[in-house]
Amino acid sequence: MEQTPATPSTLAPRRHFLAGMAGTGLALGAPLILGGPAAAQARTHKIALIGCGGRGRGAVQDSLDAAKILGCQVQVVAMADWFRDRAVNAGKQFGVPEERCYGGPRAYQEVMAGDAEIVMIVGAPLFRPLHLEAAIRAGKHVFMEKPVAVDPPGCRRVIAASEEAKRKGLIIVAGTERRHMHEYRETHQALVVEQQLGKLYGGRISFSIGHMFWTRPINPKTPDDLVRTWQNWQCLSGDHIVEQHVHNIDTALWFCGRPPVSAIGFGGRARRNAGDMYDNFSVDFNFGDGLHIHSVCRQINGCWNWDGQDFVFANGHSNGSDYPKPKTSAIPADQPKGPSDHVQEQIDVLYSVQKGKPLDEARAVAESTAAAVMGRISAYTGKEVFWDEVMGNPDKKPDLYNLALHPTAEEFETGGFDMPTENVVPLPGLAQR
Ligand SMILES: NC(=O)c1ccc[n+]([C@@H]2O[C@H](COP(=O)([O-])OP(=O)(O)OC[C@H]3O[C@@H](n4cnc5c(N)ncnc54)[C@H](O)[C@@H]3O)[C@@H](O)[C@H]2O)c1
Repeated sequence: MEQTPATPSTLAPRRHFLAGMAGTGLALGAPLILGGPAAAQARTHKIALIGCGGRGRGAVQDSLDAAKILGCQVQVVAMADWFRDRAVNAGKQFGVPEERCYGGPRAYQEVMAGDAEIVMIVGAPLFRPLHLEAAIRAGKHVFMEKPVAVDPPGCRRVIAASEEAKRKGLIIVAGTERRHMHEYRETHQALVVEQQLGKLYGGRISFSIGHMFWTRPINPKTPDDLVRTWQNWQCLSGDHIVEQHVHNIDTALWFCGRPPVSAIGFGGRARRNAGDMYDNFSVDFNFGDGLHIHSVCRQINGCWNWDGQDFVFANGHSNGSDYPKPKTSAIPADQPKGPSDHVQEQIDVLYSVQKGKPLDEARAVAESTAAAVMGRISAYTGKEVFWDEVMGNPDKKPDLYNLALHPTAEEFETGGFDMPTENVVPLPGLAQR
């Protein structure tokens, strides 16, 4: 793996960013290798993608755009997807030869055996711990999308992999968006680190939108059917409180500065008619010391919608990004500001690799994922669920601590499992998990 240190020519100072943007033609027909004349001598990063869907291909394009901004080059060297035709199509988009486009349940292993320096892990959430472990074992830097698991053991696998990454000096950046956006970072610095509005007393967070994904029963017969429709199944997505609302839950953990002590959730399915997930959740997260964050998420058409946060401090409130007035900036002066949250994530990946400063977001996003899982278990069971039970103490409630959703990632690799029962959802007060 390359270890070339960053040089002034590879890292554009932030004050030059806007001027530099003018000629980049961002996001428009990016070629395979990008970089202006000043970058002619700059470093080339080889990247590979696992999970060639909408977000995965978007992340590759974001990386190409980020390279332009940083004045370096990115070369896409391999593609992997459960379905080979998707990998080949993505390969065509980014100029990857067909022989480096892999398909099947173990396609990710071909990527790990290749020469990519940075691997993007963007398949279904169930597979994230397995793919991350393989990447760290192979010595790759990682960008991975949220959420990073669907159950408590998966969250702990990600934390263990991040410890190994630290020992190896590898970076792991997660697609948590808000932790990368400069407005959020500076607001966090002003309000949480510098406490400019005093103590945080509470808040509310929401990811409430219209119906997503399948509108008729899927009636799956094979593992392929499940992977193709992964957004509809608990085992693959973790349910939408984990898959989507984790963005806001992650922001809450970041602003509260710790994971929740417990969660008390309500939820159900009012109108979804495919898969085995709920379509609404409402959870009170207790962070201890009197601090509560109320979380809601819904995927139902024709209802009130809001994706955001509102944090209440002693002397005012904030949505997490509207108070970017720190006395001391949280952002290094030479770290460029990107034109979007997704490009910013890729700037931060390349910047960290070039600086040789391992950025490790795996623990934070694993804890946020675990909090979302707590909310889900609480809503499914109707019980209060404690952090200690799912993440802290193996002996307190072993059934929750070891709760692995089935089929697991390993079972998907070998096949031969029963399909989940469609349109049957957990009943609070009766369900055990
Ligand atoms: N941060 C964001 O803004 C954002 C937006 C959308 C999606 N996401 C996340 O990105 C991930 C992918 O979402 P998407 O919208 O691209 O979904 P998608 O269905 O469009 O793409 C996922 C791709 O991964 C492939 N895949 C699934 N399991 C695989 C495996 N084990 N090995 C190889 N390939 C596999 C699928 O075949 C599919 O092509 C999800 O975790 C999702 O939550 C994040």
